[in-house]
Amino acid sequence: MCGIIGFCGMEGSTERAAARVLEGLRRLEYRGYDSAGVAAVCDGALVVRKDVGHIDEVDALQHLGALVGDIAIGHTRWATHGGVTQANAHPHTDASGRVAVVHNGIIENYLPLRAELESQGVVFASETDTEVIPHLISAQLHNGHPALEDAVRAVCARLEGSYAFVAVSADEPDRMVGVRQGNPLVVGFGEDGAYLGSDVLAFASKARTMATPDNGEVVVLARSGVRFMDGEGREVEKERRPVDVGWTETDRNGYPHFMLKEILEQPEALLHTLEQDDALLMDVAVEILRARQVVFTACGTSRHAALIGRYLFSHVAKKFSDVVMASEFGYFSDSIDRHTVVIAVSQSGETADVLDGVRLAKEAGAHIVGIVNRPSCLLVDESDHVIRLNCGPEVGVAATKTFVSQLSVFYQLAFAMVNRLGEARCDLQEGAHRLDILLHSLNGSLQELAWELREKEHAYYIGRGINFATAMEGALKMKEISYVHAEGMPAGELKHGTLALIEEGMPVVAICPGDETHEATVGNAIEAKARGGRIIGVSDVESEVYDDWLRISRVPPLLYPVMLVPPLQLLAYHMAVERGCDPDRPRNLAKSVTVR
Ligand code: G6P
Repeated sequence: MCGIIGFCGMEGSTERAAARVLEGLRRLEYRGYDSAGVAAVCDGALVVRKDVGHIDEVDALQHLGALVGDIAIGHTRWATHGGVTQANAHPHTDASGRVAVVHNGIIENYLPLRAELESQGVVFASETDTEVIPHLISAQLHNGHPALEDAVRAVCARLEGSYAFVAVSADEPDRMVGVRQGNPLVVGFGEDGAYLGSDVLAFASKARTMATPDNGEVVVLARSGVRFMDGEGREVEKERRPVDVGWTETDRNGYPHFMLKEILEQPEALLHTLEQDDALLMDVAVEILRARQVVFTACGTSRHAALIGRYLFSHVAKKFSDVVMASEFGYFSDSIDRHTVVIAVSQSGETADVLDGVRLAKEAGAHIVGIVNRPSCLLVDESDHVIRLNCGPEVGVAATKTFVSQLSVFYQLAFAMVNRLGEARCDLQEGAHRLDILLHSLNGSLQELAWELREKEHAYYIGRGINFATAMEGALKMKEISYVHAEGMPAGELKHGTLALIEEGMPVVAICPGDETHEATVGNAIEAKARGGRIIGVSDVESEVYDDWLRISRVPPLLYPVMLVPPLQLLAYHMAVERGCDPDRPRNLAKSVTVR
């Protein structure tokens, strides 16, 4: 949710910083893409270019990469405060245009700060919360803190909320200053300069080592080198760690969209999730078994995976757990204590609501298990145990391969609880093989089905048992990228209101695997058909009720979600394409939601 990047060329470097920043912005675009901008410092002057649109559109208009200078900062925006306008795009500057800032996060007390600045005569150019920062920095620069790094520290003392920002000043053309409080910011060390970015993808292949400032620490990237300081201005040593090269590959590899590539990559992703440390899985399994209560917290697709995890824990290990939506966790945490295990599931490890819940649970003494994909993220720092998905970067905004990878981790954990980890791994290996065959055999027919359905505006998804969450996930994918109103629900709930909405030709996707739920779900599909519904059966078992049959492979019953969700992802993908939507850039959606 908003991506920030800065590049500071080292002494002797001839690289144009804005070109590096533009390259980084393209890699960070998954964080938001309604507007973009770059500021570069050169010969004591600051130049800002920004506009509305995707990065390439803004670059075509404003030639962002052509800005000269050894120091540049950039931003790709996902609007929170203020509409999508050129004025609201970052970088934001002070009134003199000599200080510029790019920011990710929310300044919660921006209204009183803005009122205070306005009472001093400051005229704001935008509606954003961010703009208070450059004005405050400017005030500090003229009022006892002439050095940018000191001014930034003094300003942080006045800001409430969670943020990461990078500031430059035309008066200090050899440096930039970054700081973070609750939001991500990482430093990358390249051969000819250093980077600041919201994520390692910002500098991926360009930096060999990286470091992360702690909350409240200030980092100065100067042409002469990089320094970290604590909130009091004392220099701190930072350990550098290698950049994970496996994480830097973000090519579409000939596919028209990242989403399609990532859907088809799922069999391979499943195999990668098997690369787990057995001792770690066993430790976590024991913590879960010992706990008096186990609570999952997650959002979006990760929450749907957690709903499936809950069934797996219950079926395999007879361990009850609950799933609390991360945005509701704070209102539902009264019973969290030191006998609780909280399993925080987050692809990005950055989702603000998840992190808030985790911090609250930690204070109450709970044991935190983080399940993440991104190698360095805030959730890793907050967790007692971390299980990694190991499935590589997921660039498509709508989560796909990370969902099946999360399922794989839950499957392994559930079986680890009953000492049958080896059996789980064999199932998953076999599942990956079958999924590969399935995806390639179904892709063509799903494309045809999407073409037939392209003008539908509503769809219902029904399933039972472990696959009620499969129905929810199928519907979420359809909503996220095709903008079709889609609802997923337990099939048994259909007759408690929703049947009233089924009309002639309305798609009803019935998740009917050949397990204990089959007969009852087919019964619900018959009820929907009687009201005119077009039944799209996703199943390994044929039925007369299906108008369309998406035939999947037979697998052990608890592995059905792994086999059922990918065809639903493909259906949503083809619907988006048929409806002229860009699946990689869904409207009003960001991959990392770092605001509440
Ligand atoms: C956003 C993304 C979804 C994702 C959700 C949770 O809504 O667009 O794809 O499922 O956040 O993200 P997380 O990184 O916590 O799994």
